[in-house]
Formats: sequence, structure tokens, C-alpha cells
Amino acid sequence: MIKSFDKPIYVTKPFLPPLEKFCQGLEEIWETRWLTNNGPILRRFTQEICNFFEADNVCLFNNGTLALQIALYGMGISGEVITTPFTFVATTHALVLNKIKPVFVDIEPQYYTIDPEKIEAAITSSTTAILAVHVYGHPCKLSALTDIAMRHNVKLIYDAAHAFGVKVGNKSIAHFGDLSMFSFHATKPFHSMEGGVLVFREAGLKDTFDYLRNFGFKNEVEVVMPGTNAKMNEIQALMGIQVLKYLKKILRRRAVIAELYRERLKEISGIRLVPSLPADIKYNHAYMPIEVDELEFGMSRDELYEKLKHYNVYTRRYFYPLICDYACYCNVSVKDPLTVARRVADRILTLPIYDSLPLSCVEAICEIIGHLHHRARSDPFFHVTTSRVLAGI
Ligand SMILES: Cc1ncc(COP(=O)(O)O)c(C=O)c1O
Repeated sequence: MIKSFDKPIYVTKPFLPPLEKFCQGLEEIWETRWLTNNGPILRRFTQEICNFFEADNVCLFNNGTLALQIALYGMGISGEVITTPFTFVATTHALVLNKIKPVFVDIEPQYYTIDPEKIEAAITSSTTAILAVHVYGHPCKLSALTDIAMRHNVKLIYDAAHAFGVKVGNKSIAHFGDLSMFSFHATKPFHSMEGGVLVFREAGLKDTFDYLRNFGFKNEVEVVMPGTNAKMNEIQALMGIQVLKYLKKILRRRAVIAELYRERLKEISGIRLVPSLPADIKYNHAYMPIEVDELEFGMSRDELYEKLKHYNVYTRRYFYPLICDYACYCNVSVKDPLTVARRVADRILTLPIYDSLPLSCVEAICEIIGHLHHRARSDPFFHVTTSRVLAGI
């Protein structure tokens, strides 16, 4: 008999530093009463992030979405930008809120990142940039994208929201392209509750981003451009500093969890795992995606998603639907048939992964998936029950 979990297992659970350490940090804030506006803790955190990325051109924000929006605005990106539909909706929102037309092209089937071969055909005289996403923290096809961007003289911008801690060789993934945005949202392996950072090549953009995140203020009396309020506050920065101390431990633990999933799931027919990344990639295991092949597995991804809930396991269908299928974007014309993206969006499921997830839970989740596969194949009434559940009967 396969038991369900007593308490819900969600797809993620944020890491938190020891409470007493966080309270010590809060004491400093209580003493200074400096809560926001480039306070001492934000300045310390900024320095730590510069050291982390081994980069000087860094600007912190109160979230990744505003960081990306401001990046596009500050870089003067306009016209058309080639991007992926297989991502979180904020990637496209950042373009559209800047009055830029998103041009969706397909993804490659191994790691689900934008397919460079599809980009070239989509470039027009209005194209000003490529906005690629290191989806799940998987590095995009970096050299192919660099080559296309250089040949066509367009900017190469990475939505690296999922990729904090990812390295290629000994180099942070932030050092590819013109600019990368990393999200520090609570759902990410590294977080500051909410937050985000831009890491960029052109030093001249630093002042622009600093002004844009703070109403366009250059100093007390000069507003040099229309800006917004996207500043990171002191408590976010404190959380960031404290979580950063544990990053290595968090990533090591996630790697162990992912390895156990891979070991247990590889024998279940109809479950496709992402191929191991090349040896020179240091991965952050930000997500644990699997693809469900309905025929081989015996049930669809949606059936599995619903059935797992009965066992108190809450997976997510990241990223379904595709961005271009959301009501607000369905009038954007899409020339690429998006064959791979559509197939993946219908089959993808991301399983729970976070540093505090016990290995026994990973074993149990895999056992449940194996059991459901077995039942779907052998129990003639299984699908009837599932379709009733899906229909809410
Ligand atoms: C791919 C991607 N881009 C952008 C964002 C937006 O980041 P934030 O939540 O920090 O605003 C997210 C959010 O999780 C994301 O997954």
C-alpha cells in the first residue's frame, strides 16, 4: 500500500537562515532606522554580489521583473525582440511593457532553451535584440547565440532568473551576452525574499540603471530621466547576505536530491529526464523537470499532476501554457510552428526540489510515480477515475 504524505509537499520551500542570526541583523536596522534608499546593508550586499559574479557592473533591484523591464528600457531596446515562449510570463511582459514586439521562436528539445537555428530566420530589419532564457538554469546555446547576435549586430540579453550560481568552466554564466538578469525571488535556490540583479558588460549603463530604479534622481535636486521605484530595501539585502553564506551547501544538497530522482526515475518507462549537462557546466539544480510520455507512461502529464495531489505532492506544470497562448498574447502573430515548445509544454512537470527536502521524501515521490505508472498500465478502471477527477466530478 502506497501512503500519501501527511503534510503537503510543495514544489519548493525557501531556505531560511537561522532566526537568531537574522534577528541580529535586524538589530542593526533598528539601530540605524535606515530601511531603504541605498542603505549600508544594501551597499554591503551589492559588494558581495560583485564579488560573487567577479563583476563590477552590477545593479540590484526589488525584483527580477522590474530589473528586466528597466534593463530593456535603459538599453534603448525597441522594435522586435526574438524570444522564447517557454518561460515564465514576466520575460514577455518586460518586453511588451516597453512597447517591444515579442517574436516567439521554438526551443531545442534537450534542455528547452531557445533554438539558435530558428532565430536567424526570424530576424528582420526591426530586430534589436535576442532575449534568451536559461530555463531551469540550463545554459542556452551560448556560442551559437553570441555568433548570431554579433553577425546581425543585435543585443544579446539573458533572462537568467533561474541561473544564479551556474558556471561555464570557471566563469559565471553572467559573463555571457550584453546583460543578464537574475531573480532573487523566494522560490529560487538563492533569494532575498524578493529581489533581482542586472549584471552587464557596458559600464556606461550603471548610472542609467541606478537612476531608473530611483525615480531618475541623479542627486537631491536633479532628475535626469523619468524613472520608477525599483529599489531593494535593507531587509531584502539582509536576507540576501545571510542566504548567500549558505549557497554552496544549498546547491550541494540540491545536487544530491536531483541525483536520487534521476536514479529512481530512470527505470520508469514514459518518464524522460533531461540529459546530464556537459561536464564543464556547474549547475544549480533550480528545478527538477521531467517529461511524461502519455502512451509509454500510461497516463498524461495532467493526469499524473492531478493524481500526485491525492498523495499530497504538489508539482507544477512549468511552463504550461506557452506564453503565446495566454489570452493577453494570443493576438501576437507567431510564424514559427513552435513544434518542440508545444510538445514540451504538454508533457512537462517539475517535481519538488529544495535543500530541506528529505531524501526519504524523494524516494517516496518516485515510488508513487512508479506505482501510478504500474496502475495506469494494469487497472482498467484507472483512467475512468482520473477523468472524473479531472472533470471535477
Ligand atoms: C524566467 C523568469 N523570468 C523572470 C522572472 C521574474 O522574476 P521575479 O519574480 O524576481 O520578478 C521569473 C520569476 O520567477 C522567471 O522565472
